[in-house]
Amino acid sequence: MNLFGKHLVCTQDWSVEELEAVLGLAAEMKKDRFSPKYTSLLAYKTFFMFFYNPSVRTRQSFECAATELGGHAQFLEPSSMRLKTSKSAGETIEDAAKVMSRYACGLGIRILEDKVQKYGDGEALIREYCENATMPIVSMAHDKFHPCQGLADVQGAREHLGSIKGKKLLLVWGHGALARSWCSVQESILINSRLGMNVTIANPKGYDLDPEVIAATKKNCQANGTKFEVTNEPVECYRGADIVYSRNWMSPNAYDAEKGFQKAKEVEQALKYTEWITDSKKMALTNNALYTHPMPVDRGHEVSDEVCSGKRSIIYDVAENRLHAQKAIMALTMSKFDYKPAGKDSAKRPVAA
Ligand code: CP
Repeated sequence: MNLFGKHLVCTQDWSVEELEAVLGLAAEMKKDRFSPKYTSLLAYKTFFMFFYNPSVRTRQSFECAATELGGHAQFLEPSSMRLKTSKSAGETIEDAAKVMSRYACGLGIRILEDKVQKYGDGEALIREYCENATMPIVSMAHDKFHPCQGLADVQGAREHLGSIKGKKLLLVWGHGALARSWCSVQESILINSRLGMNVTIANPKGYDLDPEVIAATKKNCQANGTKFEVTNEPVECYRGADIVYSRNWMSPNAYDAEKGFQKAKEVEQALKYTEWITDSKKMALTNNALYTHPMPVDRGHEVSDEVCSGKRSIIYDVAENRLHAQKAIMALTMSKFDYKPAGKDSAKRPVAA
């Protein structure tokens, strides 16, 4: 399979077969990281990266990915590019996308809630680049979705559980001081429900995710004959979980119509829910669940140190998999590499029981 030129804004836009091609290739690339099969796929080519927001993993893993495929990743700060915004005159997305397509083999964009006026504006900007570029556009996390994170999550889960079909994912809200985006958690429930997991979402009242994403997740579960539930209860939800994913996320009230994203107010409110933390007592209710988180972790709020650094934590494997998943995405969409699945997906490599 080759997906040359295809954009990646959300995994829900891709077929299961296409997602499996990324996951299969990522697993092979992890096993044979510097194989000559891969090291020249982007030779002499440049991948542009627009970061409206800071990053550790995304920037570093994309830069490593480009290098390991024989190419180069160029970091670009949108504020230095004289782009048109709602508040200032400048170059249009159409012109920028068309010009950059003459130089690069692909463009990654990160734009989160504090850089947009309202929820959905980040995704709209990325989709406008998709409409105008003649190179593939990859979301490196925007206000709605984080597709590269979702793929790395699945790769990590499969490495430790084998098949994830029919297993229970608990996505549980954690209190904290960071007022986090919906992007990683919304991507996670979409891709995991799509690939056959039962999904339970637990959050305090007032912290519901995007109703459209919830409806799509429910539909994915219905299509697979799996369970989907949302609860406002912070303890019993852990029962029977195979994977626990705890994360803070902002409330839908975080966006003020005039002032945009209001972080301070969100943090003050979220810190009050101290019972919403993943700890060993709650993990004991699970089916010996793996613990995962997209990082950076707010230890002591979202999760205890004991669980986060415990034997069932897979956070570093998932973080590493960002590199392999992104290499696979770049090989499939930015080069003519024709991937033929070897058969099985990721090799099972269990962590301590
Ligand atoms: N998970 C993730 O995207 O990490 P960064 O924000 O550090 O890139």
